[in-house]
Amino acid sequence: MFGPRLDGGNGTTLRPPTREDYDLFGRWQLMPEVTRFWGPRYGTQTPAEIEERMKKDGESQTAFLWSIAYQDETVGFTGVFGIDWVSRDAETGIFIGRHDLYGKGIASEAVRLRMAYIWNELGLHRTHNWIALPNRGSWRANQKSGYAQIGTYPRSWYRSGEWVDEWLGEAFPHTFPNEKLPPPWRDESSRGK
Ligand SMILES: CC(C)(COP(=O)(O)OP(=O)(O)OC[C@H]1O[C@@H](n2cnc3c(N)ncnc32)[C@H](O)[C@@H]1OP(=O)(O)O)[C@@H](O)C(=O)NCCC(=O)NCCS
Repeated sequence: MFGPRLDGGNGTTLRPPTREDYDLFGRWQLMPEVTRFWGPRYGTQTPAEIEERMKKDGESQTAFLWSIAYQDETVGFTGVFGIDWVSRDAETGIFIGRHDLYGKGIASEAVRLRMAYIWNELGLHRTHNWIALPNRGSWRANQKSGYAQIGTYPRSWYRSGEWVDEWLGEAFPHTFPNEKLPPPWRDESSRGK
């Protein structure tokens, strides 16, 4: 499924992806600047395959996917995947394809919106995310919205001639920082009382 529009601060919005967004996703996933710690860096992306990918994502009953927009322009995607509706556990992920925009707080804001939706609309019990340990930007953005490291997987994967350890993290509804709850879940009328 595609997640609904969620407006955050600093010009960051989550919104359902368009067909044009899927073209961008495919192109970004082949770029060395953005795939240092993510993705296979290969694959075919014919128009038919992109159509099929989008159809599958839109119909999925075990995933929610959003485009990340910054100042109304699509810059990446995030989502919650492989939802186990019985144990209410799932994996989360994030990808910003515009490397010229790194370090502006876009991922932090996208993760905040995503996690608020997961806890307040989907009713999940736990989420997890395995992240390359040197990819501080990714685990730090997750940490700020309630993720904590539960372990390290040494030499988990091989990339660019070296073994990379993974940061194993998990989050729960009660680890989300209440003061960061965005509207519409935050009751604005009770603030400041
Ligand atoms: C990792 C990624 C999501 C970070 O996005 P971003 O918008 O640059 O992140 P933010 O600006 O919100 O920064 C989040 C935190 O990490 C820190 N950070 C960001 N990039 C960093 C870097 N390269 N090195 C160290 N710290 C970094 C920021 O200072 C911030 O911490 P702070 O608030 O305590 O100061 C983005 O670089 C990306 O999508 N990379 C390519 C794909 C990828 O690796 N996805 C994740 C796979 S698990």
